[in-house]
Amino acid sequence: MNIEKTESQQKYLQILIERYTKRTKSSKELTQLYRSVLADRRVSEGFNLPLKEMCYPIVGRRSLGSRIWDVDGNEYVDLIMGLGINLFGHNPPFLREALQEQLEKGIQIGPQAELAGEVAELIGELTGMERVALSNTGTEAMMAAIRLARATTGRNKIAMFSGSYHGHFDAVLVKKQTVNGHPQVVPVAPGIPTSILEDVLVLDYGNPHALDIIKDYQQDLAAVLVEPVQSSRPNLQPKVFLQQLRQLTKELGIALIFDEMITGFRIHPGGAQAWFGVEADIAAYGKVVGGGIPIGIIAGKAIYMDRIDGGLWNYGDTSSPQVEKTMFAGTYCKHPLAMAAANAVLKYLKVQGPALQQQLNQRTSEFVQTLNTYFEAEKMPIRLVNFGSIFSPFSSSNSAHSENSDSSMGMNLLSYHLLDRGVLLRVGGGASFLSTAHTDEDISNIINAVKDSVKELQEGGFL
Ligand SMILES: Cc1ncc(COP(=O)(O)O)c(C=O)c1O
Repeated sequence: MNIEKTESQQKYLQILIERYTKRTKSSKELTQLYRSVLADRRVSEGFNLPLKEMCYPIVGRRSLGSRIWDVDGNEYVDLIMGLGINLFGHNPPFLREALQEQLEKGIQIGPQAELAGEVAELIGELTGMERVALSNTGTEAMMAAIRLARATTGRNKIAMFSGSYHGHFDAVLVKKQTVNGHPQVVPVAPGIPTSILEDVLVLDYGNPHALDIIKDYQQDLAAVLVEPVQSSRPNLQPKVFLQQLRQLTKELGIALIFDEMITGFRIHPGGAQAWFGVEADIAAYGKVVGGGIPIGIIAGKAIYMDRIDGGLWNYGDTSSPQVEKTMFAGTYCKHPLAMAAANAVLKYLKVQGPALQQQLNQRTSEFVQTLNTYFEAEKMPIRLVNFGSIFSPFSSSNSAHSENSDSSMGMNLLSYHLLDRGVLLRVGGGASFLSTAHTDEDISNIINAVKDSVKELQEGGFL
C-alpha cells in the first residue's frame, strides 16, 4: 500500500487525521507538552510516519466496568483492559471496597503483611502449587523463578521459545535472527550485553526438534521457560508438545517454568497448567491476581521454593533451615494494597468457580467467530485468533511488523478508526482482552465499529 498513491487516499487521510486529532485534542496536547521531560516508550508505540499526527496515547481520566473516559470526555469500550489485568472490568465494587478498607488501615511496610499468608494459601489452592512467594511485577517474578531454578539445579543455562515475552530483564531479551543466511540468537535491543547469550537457548515453540536440543544440553540447563500460549500468537496452543516437554524436563531434572502472567487465573482458575493438564515446577503470575495493584507471584514445588527461605522448620524442636538460600528481596514485596487486592480477587475467583472463565471464554470465541465470518465475507486479509478471553489479529508471518510496512499501516489505520468510534485498543495490534464486565451491547457495538471502520477504509481506497 502506497499512501502517496492517489489524491483520494490523501484526502481521506487528511479527513481522518483532522477528525481524530480534534476529538482527542487534549491527549495530543498533553503528550506534546511533556514530551521533552517524560521519556516514555508508549508515546511512540505504533509510530508510522504518514500517520504521526495521530501518534499519541489516549490519556485516561476514569474508568468503570468495560468503559474508560479520556481527558476530552470521550467514552470508550476498553479492549486493552489493563494489558490483561482487568478480568472483572474496571473498578469492580468488591475490589474498591477491599482497597478502601486497606487505605483506612494504612500502608505499613516493614512488619509482615497481615494478608500475605492467606494470599499464599489461596494461590496454592487455586493453582495446586506447594509454596508461594510474592513480588511486585511479572518481570521480577520471572527473574526470581530463574534464580530459584539455577540455585536448585546448580546449572546456568536457560531455554526459552521464540515469540514469548517474559519481562524486561536482560537474561530473556533475546531473539532468533538470520544473519548472513545463518540463524543466530541476538539481544532484542541496544543496551543488552551479548554476554547473556552464553546462557540462553532460543527454541521454536511447538516444534518437536526443540525437545532434541533440550536433550543435547541436559547437563547445562537449569530451566525451560514457557509462555504456554504466547499473547503474540494465541492460536498456537501446543498441548501435546507441552506434555512431552513436561515429561522430558522431569526425566532430565530441568525446571519447567510456566510464565502465566497472561493465562493465569484468566483461562481457568488454575491457569494454563489446569487447562493443558501440565504440572510445572514453578509458575509465575501477575496481572489479574493483583486487581490493578502491581504484583508478581512465584509459585512452585517446595524443592525450588525452599531456596527463598531455607525450607521448613518448626518451633519447640531442633529443626532449622536445611537448604542454602538464594537472594530474593524487594522493598515493596507484599505491599498491603497488593495483598488486599489479591486477597479480594482470589476469594472472588474461588466463590465464582471455573464457570466465570468458561462463560467469558465462550463469549470471546463467539465474538471472534462473528468478526472472522464478516472478514471472510468481505474478503479482508484479517483474521482474529483467541485463547479464551485473549484475542489478537492474526499475522500469517507471526513476526513483528516493521513500523512503516504496508501491513502495519493498514492495522494502524483500522485502530485509529476504532478509537475514533470509541473502541480503546493498542494501535497496530497486540493482544486485546474481554472482561466479565463487557455486555452483549458492548460486544455488538465493537462489531459495528469494526464494520463501519472497514467500510470507511474501503471508501478511502485503503482496502
Ligand atoms: C507473559 C508475560 N511475562 C512477563 C511479563 C512481564 O510482566 P510485568 O510487565 O508485570 O513486569 C508480561 C507482561 O506483559 C507477560 O505478558
